[in-house]
Amino acid sequence: MRNVIGYRMKRPGQDPNDLAAALAAKVVGQATAVSSIVPYVQMYQAGLAPEGRPVGVFLLLGPSGTGKTRTVEALASVLHGSEKNVLRVDCGEYQMEHEVAKLIGAPPGYLGHRETQPMLTQAKLNAVTSERNSVSLVLLDEIEKAAPSMARLLLGVLDKASLRLGDNNTVNFERSMIFMTSNLGASEMLRAMRPDFGFQSMVDQPLEDAASAIERIGMNAVRRKFSPEFINRIDAVIAYRPLDRGSLEAILEQQLAGLQAHISNRLAHRSFPLEVSETAKKFLIERGTSTQYGARELKRTIHRQLIQPIAAMVASGMIEPAEPVYADVDESGERLGLSTEAPPKPKRPKAA
Ligand SMILES: Nc1ncnc2c1ncn2[C@@H]1O[C@H](COP(=O)(O)OP(=O)(O)OP(=O)(O)O)[C@@H](O)[C@H]1O
Ligand SMILES: [Mg+2]
Repeated sequence: MRNVIGYRMKRPGQDPNDLAAALAAKVVGQATAVSSIVPYVQMYQAGLAPEGRPVGVFLLLGPSGTGKTRTVEALASVLHGSEKNVLRVDCGEYQMEHEVAKLIGAPPGYLGHRETQPMLTQAKLNAVTSERNSVSLVLLDEIEKAAPSMARLLLGVLDKASLRLGDNNTVNFERSMIFMTSNLGASEMLRAMRPDFGFQSMVDQPLEDAASAIERIGMNAVRRKFSPEFINRIDAVIAYRPLDRGSLEAILEQQLAGLQAHISNRLAHRSFPLEVSETAKKFLIERGTSTQYGARELKRTIHRQLIQPIAAMVASGMIEPAEPVYADVDESGERLGLSTEAPPKPKRPKAA
């Protein structure tokens, strides 16, 4: 008999506490998302997920760059060991009614039957599972962009965990978690968060109030867009909060650690340590803060201010292997400067 306890201890991400901690470390500042999703994984691991339904159906709402798509990638990396283990459907590609048919493929005998490989097949679902975990994560990104027939097609999937393809095969979603992301209500959320009326005052309110205001705006937008039958089949609607400064700082540290790992992996023996000063970090946070684009703006700023100049230095052979590269704000105060020379140490006041 398998030692259940030993089995669980050996596998990171299988213990619910580990899983919540591992997810929270990857998706910063979105505790509600983590605590809403983890119990469904836990139910599945315990073999107690209901039959005849997907393991969980989630609608992730909120402004751009707050971690909606990231959550699904992070879950894949925790459960399967790779962010890529996600069957992702970019709903922007299914804006016309006839495009939605591509999801299930044309029936035999119809024009295009041979050419159109359905997007959602059992093989594709199975391909995103792993030896570690048999759950498949399905991401329907930007669901509001799809033609209305997408919601009708999904009703059966959400309700009975099954989808009939054009060739009459059925796809079983009983081992799938389905995540739909959407910006529905996001612009209204942003308006409510504007410092002149709203967010600053919302920030001053207890956190719960701001979160529930965002949730209410999101739910109202969802009700305007989707039918009650569709909404009733969603297990949890999760509203993502705009990222505060502390979260952006944590994301910056993640991004810098990722950049260092990238430099080490890609450049191998030519790699070098990157030292980013506290002033430079503050500069990146300030330039990279945007309510409209969330952490996307921070990533763009890091790219422009740090990654591109580093690439230019590497390309022109200005960096010696293993010699540190220092990033600091330059004299203009308008951009980061890179140097292979250590900045002068700030003088310490003499001990009395
Ligand atoms: N909460 C977060 N924790 C960690 N990283 C984040 C978070 N939010 C955003 N990021 C970073 O920003 C990038 C963009 O975020 P993500 O793709 O999750 O945005 P989104 O909420 O899906 O926005 P959109 O509505 O524009 O698709 C991520 O790849 C990640 O690097
Ligand atoms: Mg997204």
